[in-house]
Amino acid sequence: MADHEAERPPLALKASLTSGSDTWHSTGAPGLVRPFLLADGPHGVRRQGEGGDALGIGTSVPATCFPPAVALGSTWDTALVRRVGAALGREAAALEVDVILGPGMNIKRSPLGGRNFEYLSEDPHLTGRLAAAYVEGVQSSGVGACVKHFAVNNQETDRMRVSAEVDQRALREVYLRPFEHVVRTARPAMVMSAYNSVNGVAASENPWLLTRVLREEWGFDGVVVSDWGAVNDRVAALRAGLDLEMPPTGTDAEVVAAVERGELDESVLDAVIDRLRRLAERVGAARTRAPEEELAVIRRDNAELAREAAARAAVLLTNDGVLPLDPSSDAVAVIGELARTPRFQGGGSSRIVPTGLSSALDALTRRLGAVRFAPGYAVDGVADEALVLEAVEAARDARVAVVFLGLPEHAESEGFDRTTIDLPADQVDLLERVAAVAPRVVVVLSNGGVVSVAGWQHHANAILEGWLLGQGGAEATADLLLGDRAPSGRLAETIPLRLSDHPSYLTFPGGDGVSVYGESTFVGYRHFDTLGRPVAFPFGHGLTYTRFEYADLRVTEAGEDGWEVTFSVANTGDRDGLEVAQLYAGLVEEHPTRPRSELRGFAKVELRPGETTTVTLPLPAADLRTWDVRGQRWALAAGDYAIRVGASSQDVRLEATVHSDGDRVLTPLTAQSTIAEWRADPAGREVLAALLGRTALGAAQSTVAPELVRMFLSIPLDKLRSFGLGVTAETVAGLVAQARAGQERLLATGAYRRP
Ligand code: GLC
Repeated sequence: MADHEAERPPLALKASLTSGSDTWHSTGAPGLVRPFLLADGPHGVRRQGEGGDALGIGTSVPATCFPPAVALGSTWDTALVRRVGAALGREAAALEVDVILGPGMNIKRSPLGGRNFEYLSEDPHLTGRLAAAYVEGVQSSGVGACVKHFAVNNQETDRMRVSAEVDQRALREVYLRPFEHVVRTARPAMVMSAYNSVNGVAASENPWLLTRVLREEWGFDGVVVSDWGAVNDRVAALRAGLDLEMPPTGTDAEVVAAVERGELDESVLDAVIDRLRRLAERVGAARTRAPEEELAVIRRDNAELAREAAARAAVLLTNDGVLPLDPSSDAVAVIGELARTPRFQGGGSSRIVPTGLSSALDALTRRLGAVRFAPGYAVDGVADEALVLEAVEAARDARVAVVFLGLPEHAESEGFDRTTIDLPADQVDLLERVAAVAPRVVVVLSNGGVVSVAGWQHHANAILEGWLLGQGGAEATADLLLGDRAPSGRLAETIPLRLSDHPSYLTFPGGDGVSVYGESTFVGYRHFDTLGRPVAFPFGHGLTYTRFEYADLRVTEAGEDGWEVTFSVANTGDRDGLEVAQLYAGLVEEHPTRPRSELRGFAKVELRPGETTTVTLPLPAADLRTWDVRGQRWALAAGDYAIRVGASSQDVRLEATVHSDGDRVLTPLTAQSTIAEWRADPAGREVLAALLGRTALGAAQSTVAPELVRMFLSIPLDKLRSFGLGVTAETVAGLVAQARAGQERLLATGAYRRP
């Protein structure tokens, strides 16, 4: 074998490196690239022994179970999420893991989504900022993060075959945008391609998604790994930009044969190997399991952080003053099996074996002494009159009944979507009957996906939405109920009055292999707030044990790049508190395809009673852009933009308006540009005016009814040849040449830009 051949690994070896060696390891080759150990994620290190499974069936090494994404998303706290990421990274490294398969960052398009517990928000801005913080945190510990599931994986129904049919605007502005933000700002080591198809092309074999957008446009330089079992065609996947098929399917020979037949360029395999080698540089040499005493310290520290994160995640939806409870005077009855048997995480591949776990009942008993407890219901959802009667008796003499309600494990999970957002009927019945005898009622919810509250919230003096809070959730819940900590979570997704109000209601989850995203960019609050439709609780909502006031809004230009939004927030109550100040922006002029307001910034601030702070949020002009499908680019429309600052998408405390001249980009006019597009262009409208003066169209314009003139606006210039107006092919060609020349003259002045 010639020298150069001695250096070139054989084709079969190269092919083997593009697939895993078992459920959790990539394939290594001595002297070329080492094998990597991948493990779920996202809210704990799911390190399995040999064999293992990707479905959450088999067990795994005990690890800290942090609050799942539904809770982390509700913290609105990038600094905290970054700390959680770093803690996860340290624990992963101690367990020999090279890459954590997280964050899960798909948009919560419908409250029915079975994996909504594992995702951050209905909003792309909040999702992107929190996911970037998670990635930065994990990778600060020398471990890789793997953002998933790329892309448009927003349902579990038929997830391995369904095609998400999404228009370009929604695709770019909602579903891809958070991934773009994370890739550009946090440089994740890996991206996981999703099971589903996007507009008919499998995500794991989609060259537009994996190469054109992810690598060429966004500059992603890491490794693209498939979701487990997502690859249908190895060769098509490699050609599209997928690097690593997981787990192995024993099809390396197909890759070799494709190269030998000239259907796949061998350089594709070389590029994969280069990316795997760069991954090795990023995550370092193979690790060995940390000594037990080191692991114990990591687990202890992480357990404390998990509790802190949980305490910052729960959302206080309503409170008439019953919270915080007064331990001295409040004889408390604890009602509900979920107080004794906590739900703290979701089902499927993310399932963690926690290093510790307590129940809210234990946590409250430790603090209050003996409390009356009654399960009230069985989590299997079968009504049990005896349990209800027992619970009513337990509540009868109490001053406050704390009722723990929520979704049982079997109601939601990876792998299937829900069909209702209602709480189990037996639980609502229990609440009603307890409320009939207890002077005051506090409801604590445990659920991964949104549940409707409208039908029963009048029975509660306070509602604490606890989501799924990880292994520290019970202690955190007790901290919040008793006022040792103040609630500071905010809704990262809208709670609708009823499921049928939701914009995705009629099209989710679709059928016959297709899911049509008919609501386009109007996901979640964008729908409700643009249409002024009522909700149970709006995006961004959350109460605490004090009050905040906003004042002194100032919006100042920050050069070409946009604006700076400054305002003050004051704690006007008598307790410490954390406020999430939110910045929304939107074009003032109503537009059929633009939501009224979109989240464009937020800050979580901690204030003592009487304290005031000044918040400054950047508002880059780039964040006001929308996707111009015709020009295939981000475009900033000229116009007035409303700036809204407040405590939720509907609780606006301060407003201002700014003007933008837009990005002053001249899109080259063509014969296929419409009359409206010609008229909107500074060069085009001059050329058109001259034409109108020379043809029957001009004379007609003054005598024809306005609605007919409007009809012409949507006609491509070239079509004017068909209406007997004296416009010929030569006329059209001449007009286009004149317009282009005019555009070039304008571009030369520097007042306009090319796309
Ligand atoms: C699962 C999930 C993915 C997970 C992978 C490995 O099916 O979709 O999120 O990381 O397989 O368990």
